[in-house]
Amino acid sequence: MKIVMVAAIGENNVIGNRGALPWHLSSDLQHFRGLTLNRPIVMGRKTFESIGRALDQRTTIVVTRALHRTAPGVVLAMSIDAALATARADAEKRKVDEIMVIGGGDIFAALMPRADRLEITHVHALPEGDAYFPDIDPQTWREVSRREHPAGPKDTSAFAVATYVRR
Ligand SMILES: NC(=O)c1ccc[n+]([C@@H]2O[C@H](COP(=O)([O-])OP(=O)(O)OC[C@H]3O[C@@H](n4cnc5c(N)ncnc54)[C@H](OP(=O)(O)O)[C@@H]3O)[C@@H](O)[C@H]2O)c1
Repeated sequence: MKIVMVAAIGENNVIGNRGALPWHLSSDLQHFRGLTLNRPIVMGRKTFESIGRALDQRTTIVVTRALHRTAPGVVLAMSIDAALATARADAEKRKVDEIMVIGGGDIFAALMPRADRLEITHVHALPEGDAYFPDIDPQTWREVSRREHPAGPKDTSAFAVATYVRR
């Protein structure tokens, strides 16, 4: 089972500001959907609150230490290991071999040492923010693909989509 982290990050590693994304990238949302469809997705409670609902055709697993928060279609997990165990069982049921970790900063930091692959949208911007992606150390991670995208009509920035695998 592979742990895959999916993130959009600014050139300063910012991923979020005050509970929201610091950019609007319609093209990247399509890319995110393609990567995560028919897979279990693991996210922190704050990221879940910023999305506000379970995502369709995916199993939404939310890590929280507070059991009282719930929403239709969401599976709560009280620890990261519990989230991964639930995700693993769900992936097997769906006959896929990937668990998608979609943020935010706390969850990316906790799972960076255990991730197998990173699917990164490098946003060509330097936004203000309060949530960050960990450094992608080239000693640990090998970039295997990168494609540049100009800003589309509904995008606030140009961006590049890159895949990294653990060396
Ligand atoms: N650009 C991107 O790709 C991207 C992706 C995702 C999110 N974001 C942004 O990132 C920001 C949110 O990130 P964040 O770091 O503030 O929060 P987060 O990682 O989404 O959620 C943090 C919460 O997760 C729970 N949690 C964390 N570690 C846990 C553990 N070991 N065991 C149990 N529960 C645990 C806690 O929930 P409780 O407080 O309920 O206990 C904690 O408050 C937002 O601005 C969002 O828009 C950006």
